Formats: sequence, C-alpha cells, structure tokens
Amino acid sequence: MSAALDEARPAPGAARPLVRLRDLHVTFATRDRTVHAVNGVDLDLAAGEVLCILGESGSGKSVTMRALMRLLPRFARITGGIEVAGRDVTAMSERELADFRGGEVAMIFQEPMTALDPVFTIGRQIAETVQRHEGVSRQAAEARALELLELVQIPSARRRLAAYPHELSGGLRQRAMIAVALACKPKLLLADEPTAALDATVQIQVLLLLRELQRELGMGVIFVTHDLGVAGEIADRVAVMYAGRVVEEGPVAALMAGPLHPYPQGLLGATVHAGMRGRRLTTIPGAPPLLDVVPAGCAFHPRCPHAEDACLAAVPAMRSPSPGRRARCLRVPDGDVS
Ligand SMILES: Nc1ncnc2c1ncn2[C@@H]1O[C@H](COP(=O)(O)OP(=O)(O)OP(=O)(O)O)[C@@H](O)[C@H]1O
Ligand SMILES: [Mg+2]
Repeated sequence: MSAALDEARPAPGAARPLVRLRDLHVTFATRDRTVHAVNGVDLDLAAGEVLCILGESGSGKSVTMRALMRLLPRFARITGGIEVAGRDVTAMSERELADFRGGEVAMIFQEPMTALDPVFTIGRQIAETVQRHEGVSRQAAEARALELLELVQIPSARRRLAAYPHELSGGLRQRAMIAVALACKPKLLLADEPTAALDATVQIQVLLLLRELQRELGMGVIFVTHDLGVAGEIADRVAVMYAGRVVEEGPVAALMAGPLHPYPQGLLGATVHAGMRGRRLTTIPGAPPLLDVVPAGCAFHPRCPHAEDACLAAVPAMRSPSPGRRARCLRVPDGDVS
C-alpha cells in the first residue's frame, strides 16, 4: 500500500467514512483508443459532510461520480476500492445495485428531464420510488410524496402531485427531481452540476434548499461544480481534480484562500474572496491533456509555471503540510505527521 493510502487511513477509533474511494481507476477502451478517465482517486467523505469536486471539463468528475454508483457503460473498466456506508460497491450484484441506487445513494443531474419520466406525474414517480424501496402501501407512499414536495418547498404541493414534468418551470422541475432523489432518505446524495442550467436567482434558491435539507437529513453530499461561488456556498471541503486525479483537497475556506497546488492556484486566480458567486474557474494557459496518454509524472507539468525534471519522474505522492490539507505537488512541504 502506498504512503498516500496510509495517510488517508482514519485514526483508530475515528468514525468510518460514508464514502471511501481507494486508488480508483476507470478506463474506456474502444477499438481505436483507450481513455484513462480516472487515474488513482483516493477520497473520503464523512457522514453529513458536503464535498465539492472542482476541475476543468474532462478531468474525470462525472466518471468518478458514476463509478461510485457503478453507473458506467459495460465496456468501462473499473479497478480500486469503492465503499459506501461500509458496503463494497464493487462486489454488488445487479439486484443489490438496483436497491442501492435510489435507496442508500441518490443522484441528481444537471438536466432534470433526464431523471424524471415525462409520461408519469410527479406524484406517481415519487410514490413509486417510495413503494419500491420501502414496501409501504400505496396510500402511505402518496402521503410521503406530498410531504416531500412540501419539504422541497414546491408551492401548491398537493396540486403539483398531479402535474407532469413538462408542466413545471425549470426551477420547480429541479425541486421535483430533488424530491425524487430524497424519497428514500439517502445517506449519500451525488449531485453533478445540478443547478448549472438554472438562472442565477433560482440557482441560489435551489442551493440554499439543498444545504438546508442536507443539514436536516444529515446526508453526505458530493457536489460537482465549475462555479467557485457554489462551492463556497455549500461545501465543507473541496477536492480539485486534474487529468483523473485529485491534486488537492482541503477545507473550503482554507483551500480557496490559499491553494497549495499550482493547478488550483491558476484556476482560482490571484485573489479569491467572498462574493464570487457565479464566478467560473479562471482559464489557465494550455489545455488539459487528452486522456489517451496521461502525461508522465505530474500530469499538470506541461502547463505548470514551476515544473522541473523531478515532476516528470513519478506521480507526486499526496503531501500534507497541515491537518486536513493535502496536495500532490513536490513543492508542498510534507509537514503534518498526525
Ligand atoms: N462513456 C464514455 N466513453 C468513453 N469516454 C468517456 C465516457 N464518459 C466519459 N469519457 C471520457 O472520460 C473523460 C472524463 O470525463 P468526465 O465526464 O468525467 O469529465 P468531467 O470532469 O465531468 O467534465 P465536465 O466538466 O465537462 O462535465 C473525458 O475524456 C471523457 O471524454
Ligand atoms: Mg461532468
């Protein structure tokens, strides 16, 4: 086992994390090319914690999220450890996976229409999810559907139970999708840019609602976003991905105030402060690698202003200069031995 994994191990007696990803790799092999989408991700999420994943397009954020639920095409090759709520997701049968998805783990997407079925009313979709996973009567499931629409603050909830998805506005559809996701009281909610398609005011309402529900229900949340303001608003912790690896992680305020790794330093720009809602990641010179061939050593070295020969020799191990902060860069001191 590598030093990075040793560091990530919880202290004796510490609560077991809700999510434990260990050395996760995902490749997509087609006849003419192999894409190395995820290249050794180690991540932990504590119960009730909100982690935001940041990174440029193609850095492997969505593939990591889908791997967590084993929602990837059959030709995807997944290796490494995926554990959720103490269960080994890699060993689950199709049947166990079906119960697991929409049961212990729920996922919300950028576009609610992909998660909602256009031919059933909102009420029916929620009630069926509740019935399937909890085996309660139809009447009890319908009562729960109403409760959920009220929980996500859909006005005139009783009337909306009979609405079809296309009859709702974008913001209400997003709320309905959250209600479906919460129907089985998941321990873990995976959110992949769920508010990116909404306009700013609706987006912030949905985010605040999610944060409120997360606290109320004590859910763990992994939230993918390109928006620094969104991360600042809802995250406890941030993980930054580059070329299928986590290059830095740490508490949101500390990471944003002073990123350790040159990649997030470039992304966040020189000054990051409150009031950055709607601020997208800064563009940094050069392009992320096409993942047919992951650059040797630190994958960021071709774009890094500080790159030196040693950066090409091997993938830098995670270093931890202070408690809770970790970065994969040779320039970061490895000070925290706790
Ligand atoms: N089904 C697939 N088949 C082949 N390659 C895929 C598949 N899904 C994703 N990839 C590739 O995996 C890499 C990582 O993709 P991923 O969707 O995780 O990026 P992302 O970080 O979520 O980007 P974005 O911010 O644009 O959503 C990309 O190179 C992508 O082309
Ligand atoms: Mg994505």
